[in-house]
Amino acid sequence: MTRESWRTRLGFILAAVGSAVGLGNVWRFPWMTAENGGSAFLVVYLAIILLIGVPGLLAEFVIGRRSQRNPAGALFRLSGSKSWGAVGLFGVVTAVVLLSFYSVVGGWILRYFLASFTGGYFGSPGAYFGSINFGLPAVGFHVAFLGLTSLVVLGGVRDGIEKATKVMMPAIVVLLVALAAWATTRTGADAGLSFYLDFDAAYLRANFFDVLGAAAGQALFTLSLGVGTMITYASYLGDDHNLAFDGSIIAVLNTGVGVLAGFVVFPLLFATVGELTGPAASGGGPGALFVSLAGAFTQVPFGQVLAIAFFGVIVLAALSSSISMLEIPVAYLVDEHDLERRTATGALAGLVLLTGSANALNPALFDFVASTLVDLMLTAGLAGFLVFVGWVLGKDAVAEFSTGAGSRVQSLGPAWLWSVRTILPLFLLGTLAVNLLALAGVSILG
Ligand code: PFF
Repeated sequence: MTRESWRTRLGFILAAVGSAVGLGNVWRFPWMTAENGGSAFLVVYLAIILLIGVPGLLAEFVIGRRSQRNPAGALFRLSGSKSWGAVGLFGVVTAVVLLSFYSVVGGWILRYFLASFTGGYFGSPGAYFGSINFGLPAVGFHVAFLGLTSLVVLGGVRDGIEKATKVMMPAIVVLLVALAAWATTRTGADAGLSFYLDFDAAYLRANFFDVLGAAAGQALFTLSLGVGTMITYASYLGDDHNLAFDGSIIAVLNTGVGVLAGFVVFPLLFATVGELTGPAASGGGPGALFVSLAGAFTQVPFGQVLAIAFFGVIVLAALSSSISMLEIPVAYLVDEHDLERRTATGALAGLVLLTGSANALNPALFDFVASTLVDLMLTAGLAGFLVFVGWVLGKDAVAEFSTGAGSRVQSLGPAWLWSVRTILPLFLLGTLAVNLLALAGVSILG
C-alpha cells in the first residue's frame, strides 16, 4: 500500500494550522491570559512562541519528513534503537490522553452551539454550564464530538483532513475578524483592550516564574508540540517544501488567531461584565470564561446570532485539532501494525470513547488530565524530540532543514541545531522539574 501525501502545499499548511488553532486559542489562551496578568502574559507567551515554539516545530517537521512515519516508527527507524522508538510511542500515548479530555470539551462546545439555536442557556448561563459539564449529558456530547472527529479521520489525509481543514480555516478567520470588529467597538470595550494590551511590568516582576511556566505550557499546547502531531503531518510531505518557511507561516497564523480571539473575548467581558470579576478573574475551573462569554451573549442585542457564530467557530477549530490528535495513533497502527485505516480508526474511537467517558464522569480526573498531566506529557515529549534531533540526527537534521530552502534559510541551520541541542531541551527539562516538584507539593520558588 503506498503511503498517502498532501495534495497541495496549502493543504498541508492549513491542516497544520488547523491542528494548532483550536480550543487552545479560543478557550485556553484568553483564560490563561486573564489568570496571569493580561498583557504581561501576552509578552512572555509571544517570546516563547518565537524562541522555543518555532524551532521546536521545525524539529518535529524534520523528524516527520525524513522518516515518512508516525512518531514511534519515525524515531525507531531513524535511530535503529527500540528505546528511541519508545520515546515516539510516548507521543502516541499522549495523543490518546489528550483526545480523552479534548473530546469532552469539544462536546460542551457542540452542545453550546446547538443550544444557541434554541436559546437553551439564555435563562441562566451559569446554572446551565453546571448542569451539562459532567455526567451522562457530557458523555453523550463527548461521543458525538468523537464521532465527527472519527468521520474526518476515516476519510484519510487528502479526502478527509485536507478537504475539511481547507474549508474550516478560512471560515474561522472570517468569523473571528467579524466578531472582533464588533466586540472592540462596543461601549466599555476599552477597559478590556487595555487589560489585554497595556504592558504591566510590575505584575511580570512579581510573578515571573508563574507567568513563565504558564506561558511555556500554553505555547506548546497551542502549537500542538510534544505529541508528534507535527511529525505525523510532516510525514505526508515531499521534499519540495521549505520547512522553515512553512513552520513560520504556521506559527504566525496560529498566534494571529489566538491574539484575535483575545480581541473578541476581553472587550466582550469588560463591556458586559464591567471588569474581570467572579469566575473569569479567579480562573475558577475549566468552564469559567466559557460561562462568562455565554453570559455576555445573553445581554446584548442579536446575542443569539453572535452566539451561534462564536460557538460555530469554536466547534470548527476544535474539530480541526481533534482530528490531528486521532491521526497520530491511527498512523501508528496503519504504519507499524498494517491495520486498515478503517479498523484503526474504529479501534481508537472505541478506546477514546471509554477514556473520554471516564473524564466526563469524573471532574477531578478531568481537571488533573486537562491541566497538569497534559502539560507534563507535552513538555517531556518535546524535550525528547529535541534531544533526538540534536544528538541523534545531528548533521542529518540540518540537511533535512535545508532541503528545499534558499541559502538565506540554510544559513540558519547550524544555529537552529545548536539551540535544539542545548538551551531548548534544558529549558523544557527545567520547566518539567519545577512542575513535578510543584505537583509533589514542594515549592522552590518561595
Ligand atoms: N493546538 C491545539 C489547540 O490549541 O487547541 C491542541 C493540540 C492539538 C495539542 C494537537 C496537541 C496536539 F497534538
